[in-house]
Amino acid sequence: MAIIMDGNGRWAVARGRPREWGHRQGARAVRRVVEAAPDLGIGTLTLYAFSSDNWQRPAHEVRTLMRLFRSYLRREVPELLENGVRLEVLGRRDRLSPELVRAITAAETATAAASRLRLRLAVDYSSRDILVSAAQLAAAAGGANLDRDSFAARVGEAMGLREATPEVDLLIRTGGEQRLSDFLLWECAYAELTFTSKMWPEFGKDDLSAAVREFRARDRRFGKVTAAAG
Ligand code: FPP
Repeated sequence: MAIIMDGNGRWAVARGRPREWGHRQGARAVRRVVEAAPDLGIGTLTLYAFSSDNWQRPAHEVRTLMRLFRSYLRREVPELLENGVRLEVLGRRDRLSPELVRAITAAETATAAASRLRLRLAVDYSSRDILVSAAQLAAAAGGANLDRDSFAARVGEAMGLREATPEVDLLIRTGGEQRLSDFLLWECAYAELTFTSKMWPEFGKDDLSAAVREFRARDRRFGKVTAAAG
């Protein structure tokens, strides 16, 4: 499962507060969802925390977000370990501060053996940039016999993984917009999409559980016809 966590800023502004406050409340929603996910049968959860295009936001907002990521990574490790959560960060690291990179590495190392939930945070992430890198890797390897599976392995490699990039089965986007915003474009080829007008800071366990229920009720055909349809 993957989530585009949208609506922090609008939620805060609607309450007469600065956008940064919305992001802080958004971090609390992250905690709620991470805690609830394993009991709902979710094995992998990828959260879109910061896109490569988000660097174009005002500097103080970017600073707040980077600080929030760092404090989440530093403070949350004991709780992640308690809940069996293995944390991975996807995206470029060369534009992040050395302190944030250190916090990422420390959290990834500390949680590496956990296996109840694989939590992937996308930070300075662009799916199109990853696909370009994967194409470059494939070309450097000669490009021969390239097929879907071997390209998925290249996408994984471009993301620093040892295995192919995992498929997304369900994508949730909060905040009322209905777009993918350069997130997991390869991985979402057959994802079920769910859009909710709820803003991210208001999203909780019940919303996650409702989305999973809706997903389970969907008829996933992967381009085929269902047995019932004959
Ligand atoms: C989108 O809301 C949200 C973001 C760009 C940042 C996501 C960050 C968090 C949920 C906070 C902390 C996360 C972690 C992992 C600790 P928006 O600002 O685009 O909202 P808007 O569309 O209303 O402007």
